[in-house]
Amino acid sequence: MALPRLVTVVGGSGFIGRQIVQELARLGVKVRVAVRDPERALDLKPLGDVGQITPIQANIRNADSLRAAVRGADAVVNLVGILAEGGKQTFEAVQAQGPGLLAAAAAQEGVAAFVHISAIGASADSKSVYARTKAAGEKAVLSAFPDAAILRPSVVFGPRDDFFNRFAELARTAPALPLIGGGKARFQPVYVGDVAQAAVQALTRPEARGKTYELGGPQIFTFKDLMQLVLKETGQRALLLPLPFAVASLMGAVMGLLPKPPLTTDQVTLLKSDNVAGGNFPGLQRLGVTPTAANAVLPGYMDIYRKGGRFNEQSRT
Ligand SMILES: NC(=O)c1ccc[n+]([C@@H]2O[C@H](COP(=O)([O-])OP(=O)(O)OC[C@H]3O[C@@H](n4cnc5c(N)ncnc54)[C@H](OP(=O)(O)O)[C@@H]3O)[C@@H](O)[C@H]2O)c1
Repeated sequence: MALPRLVTVVGGSGFIGRQIVQELARLGVKVRVAVRDPERALDLKPLGDVGQITPIQANIRNADSLRAAVRGADAVVNLVGILAEGGKQTFEAVQAQGPGLLAAAAAQEGVAAFVHISAIGASADSKSVYARTKAAGEKAVLSAFPDAAILRPSVVFGPRDDFFNRFAELARTAPALPLIGGGKARFQPVYVGDVAQAAVQALTRPEARGKTYELGGPQIFTFKDLMQLVLKETGQRALLLPLPFAVASLMGAVMGLLPKPPLTTDQVTLLKSDNVAGGNFPGLQRLGVTPTAANAVLPGYMDIYRKGGRFNEQSRT
C-alpha cells in the first residue's frame, strides 16, 4: 500500500505514540490522535502543519467511540497499554478485549491496514497477567483483522521513556538501585525512533500483513548492565542492591496499592523472564530499519541527571 492519507493513532499521546504521530506527519500523512482526553494531546498539533494532526476522544473500552475514531481512516495504529491496573483500566479490558473491539471497528469501517503494538514476552502461558493479556489482545486483533501486523518491542528508550528516566531519577534521589532477582533478566532495548519507523513500514509493506515482528536493539543487556549504564550516563554513584524476588514481590504488593505504583507484583513476575527477541519472528531489519544503539542516544537525555545538569562538562568524568 502507498502511504495512507489518514491514519488514526489510538494511544497516540503516549511515549511511543507521539513519535509515530511525528513520523507520519513528517511524511505528509493526516493523523487523528484518539485518546481518552484529547485536551492532553493538544501539544501534538505543532508536530504537524496546521490541521494535519487532530486529537479526538475515544476509549479502547468503548466500541462506539472506536468506530467514530476510525471512520474514514485508511489505517489504524493501536498503542493503548498499561503497566498497572486502576479502576476500569484493567489489563483484561485495556489489553485483551480493547484491541479486539478496535480491530473489529476497523474491519467494519473498511480500514485497509492495522498495526498493533504488543510486547516481547506476550504469551498465553505467562505467569504475568500483563503478558497474558498482551497475547489475548494479539489474538483478538488477528481474529477481527487477519491482515494486521503485530509489533512486539522489548523495553523502549528515548528522551521521554519511562525506564531510563525512572531509574536515573531514582539514582539521583536514592542511595541504591534495586537489582530485582539479582538483576539477571536480559533486555534488548530498542530506540523509540526505530519503533516509529517500523510501525510506518508495517502499515505500508504488503509483506507485513498478518505478520508478527519482535523489535529489539543491537545489544542485549542484563538488568544489572542497564543499571550500571544509568549510573555511567548520569555520573551518579548509587549502590546496586540485589533484591530477592520474594522481597520485591512483597514490595510490589504494597506499592501496587498506590494510585500510580512504581512497582507491582506483576512487574516483578515479568522480571523473572528475559525480554529479548526469541529468533522465531522477524525483526527491525526485515522492516528496513537499522537498530540504533542505546549508547548513541542515552547521553543526549541522561545528562540532565548529572550533578550541575547538562552544561556541567566537569561532571563528565
Ligand atoms: N514503553 C515501552 O518500553 C514498551 C515496551 C513494550 C511494549 N510497549 C507497548 O507499547 C504501547 C505504547 O507504550 P507507551 O510507552 O507509549 O505507553 P504510554 O506512554 O503509557 O501511552 C499509552 C497511551 O494510551 C492511551 N490510553 C490509555 N488508556 C486508554 C484507553 N482506555 N482508551 C484510549 N486510550 C488510552 C494514553 O492516553 P490517555 O491516558 O490520555 O487516554 C496514551 O496515549 C503499549 O501498548 C505498551 O504496552 C511499550
